[in-house]
Amino acid sequence: MATKKFSRITLFTFLIIFLTFVICLSEAYTQQGPKPQDPALAKQPQVIPLQILPKDNAGNVDWVKALRQGIIKPLDTLDPKKISSPVIDLDINFKVKGDLPDVVYPHFPHTQWLACNNCHPKIFIMSAGANKITMKKIDEGQFCGRCHGVVAFPLSNCSRCHSRPKR
Ligand code: HEC
Ligand code: HEC
Ligand code: HEC
Repeated sequence: MATKKFSRITLFTFLIIFLTFVICLSEAYTQQGPKPQDPALAKQPQVIPLQILPKDNAGNVDWVKALRQGIIKPLDTLDPKKISSPVIDLDINFKVKGDLPDVVYPHFPHTQWLACNNCHPKIFIMSAGANKITMKKIDEGQFCGRCHGVVAFPLSNCSRCHSRPKR
């Protein structure tokens, strides 16, 4: 009888210790990562599995398509007082000598990610044909090469830029 009571007490004590341990552990985990009181971050789901993101013709993540399909919704700014930068729908065509398709530079998807002053006037003078752009300079990291091959899809994917077949 006495041993039975004793083992019940031991069991109970162990249970208490175990529960305290679990609570402490979960507390420690929730303290990692961004603070929940940051309103900008609290609005966003934190993790998007890479597998569900659409891929381009080269098998890289197609961020433009992901945005269009509403899978991702990047924040403009973490500062709630700052105003959004405008989006414009303006395609610039670059005629390319030879058989390769011409290049289409689309403002629309770029201005969904970037404010005008990321490109104008430092990378590109704001006037069609005013910049002496060549593929060699792009490969060296100028013009489109400031971003493509660095933070945007790589220069090896010719057809995403050279997208307008010659007639
Ligand atoms: C990612 C870079 C980039 C961003 C961001 C960007 N532009 Fe441009 N813009 C270009 C390029 C490239 C050209 C063409 C330059 C050339 O032909 O040499 C251009 C040309 C222009 C032109 C000249 C059009 C013409 O027919 O002469 C205007 C106007 C313009 N951009 C306005 C804007 C505005 C307004 C914004 C912001 C809402 C913006 N751009 C954001 C890259 C950009
Ligand atoms: C990020 C966009 C982009 C990518 C990717 C790209 N190009 Fe270009 N390419 C351009 C632009 C812009 C021009 C300049 C058009 C002009 O002559 O006004 C150009 C011009 C060219 C020209 C014309 C001659 C010259 O040197 O200007 C050739 C040839 C060329 N590219 C080949 C390629 C090949 C091959 C690939 C893939 C390995 C490629 N490009 C990938 C944007 C790109
Ligand atoms: C300031 C950075 C920056 C510069 C400069 C830039 N791009 Fe981009 N570009 C991006 C980003 C960011 C994306 C979206 C992410 C991605 O597709 O990898 C993009 C996407 C694109 C797309 C895909 C559009 C779609 O609908 O799928 C094309 C085409 C493109 N850029 C062409 C160009 C050309 C041509 C130039 C040069 C005339 C250029 N870009 C210069 C940053 C830049």
